[in-house]
Amino acid sequence: MNERTSVSPPDMSAFWMPFTANRQFKSAPRLLASAKGMYYTSHDGRRILDGTAGLWCVNAGHCRDEIVAAVQAQAAEMDFAPTFQMGHPKAFEAATKIARHTPGDLKHIFFANSGSEAVDTALKIALAYHRSRGEGQRTLLIGRERGYHGVGFGGISVGGIAPNRKAFSGGLLPAVDHLPHTLNLKEAAFSKGQPAWGAHLADELERLVTLHDASTIAAVIVEPVAGSTGVLIPPQGYLQRLREICDRHGILLIFDEVITGWGRLGAPFAAQYFGVTPDMLTMAKGTNNAAAPLGAVAASAKIHDAIVNGAPAGIELFHGYTYSGHPIAVAAACATIELYEREQLFERAARMAPLFESAIHKLRGEPHVIDVRNLGLVGGVELAPRAGASGARAYDVFVRCFEKGVLTRYTGDILAFSPPLIVEEAQLDEIFGTVAEVLRETE
Ligand SMILES: Cc1ncc(COP(=O)(O)O)c(C=O)c1O
Repeated sequence: MNERTSVSPPDMSAFWMPFTANRQFKSAPRLLASAKGMYYTSHDGRRILDGTAGLWCVNAGHCRDEIVAAVQAQAAEMDFAPTFQMGHPKAFEAATKIARHTPGDLKHIFFANSGSEAVDTALKIALAYHRSRGEGQRTLLIGRERGYHGVGFGGISVGGIAPNRKAFSGGLLPAVDHLPHTLNLKEAAFSKGQPAWGAHLADELERLVTLHDASTIAAVIVEPVAGSTGVLIPPQGYLQRLREICDRHGILLIFDEVITGWGRLGAPFAAQYFGVTPDMLTMAKGTNNAAAPLGAVAASAKIHDAIVNGAPAGIELFHGYTYSGHPIAVAAACATIELYEREQLFERAARMAPLFESAIHKLRGEPHVIDVRNLGLVGGVELAPRAGASGARAYDVFVRCFEKGVLTRYTGDILAFSPPLIVEEAQLDEIFGTVAEVLRETE
């Protein structure tokens, strides 16, 4: 099964790869050729078990027949239709289907093409909302250290990842502040599920409110579980406290659910999982099983009505993308959501979560492991860094796992896992068994 076939790689000079060490990659490429269910097939013909749902996005598993058929049919029937002063039924149908799963009264869906665009859309809607109510001075946006909100100027400004901001620091949004992140290995290493320590860190928001004055603050944006910087699980009670503080001061709360949305925690969104309803939430990735680029913002009735009903006749929000509600992307969303519902994949994820937890925590005690953390079907394993070479150890583990037929993800010295929600128990054992084997072989 895992035998290599000899195929020569394509010419790689033209594609400037995103978030990739281009020179390193092109000298020893890792190429994927096809995918089905829980597996990729590599360019050299090996079967690769997908421990990361692609890039946290293929929640229903790869190349599901129903989604493939929906994309094919839509491409043949109508490739593109504008949604500026025009419409097409699938976009409305997809928004309605999405709204069946969004929490509370977040039933107004604005389409974008990526998580980054969804985030920048939500930030702009927050400013437009306050302005529509005569509070246009509320322009400050509060993010969090180690937050990832994509790569638009809005997203990197509220985001808290230093390298993503550094080269662009001259062009970041001017009115931004950050909460501290919640990871603390001294207090909470090897927590299973939500750590008991750390809810008080939400009170830092009160400090920022005192510093800037509530009348200047538009919104707080957080990932309910921070994914990209290495799976940071919110402490018990933390998100509830953020919600209370926002309510007290008229500040909008935005959950960036690009990773946590669509079943990752065993509920449609993290909002339902934690029982905390934000004012807006962003989604992308799992919304259409990543079958075509798609992002979206779900906004509450309060926000939608203030902007749309409060505007004079004419266009209410001067914002949108040529591909907002692209026919192929929304056709894939309709098929994906039907599949989630029919196969009850969110419930399945909830049932698999305890098995995931016990499988990933078996890595405790393996060489280099200094923390294991998990929630739902997402988990992180933090490794001690090599002296003077931060990230090198996790990179080596990632490469060795790929060579042994398991796709993982790494960021800094943290390995991240987020398998498709269709993962079987034996596949969990294979993923974490392979990681254990590789850790034992790694310096
Ligand atoms: C929480 C979060 N927000 C935004 C994004 C950006 O999404 P995209 O890469 O589709 O622009 C990501 C991507 O991983 C994410 O995890």
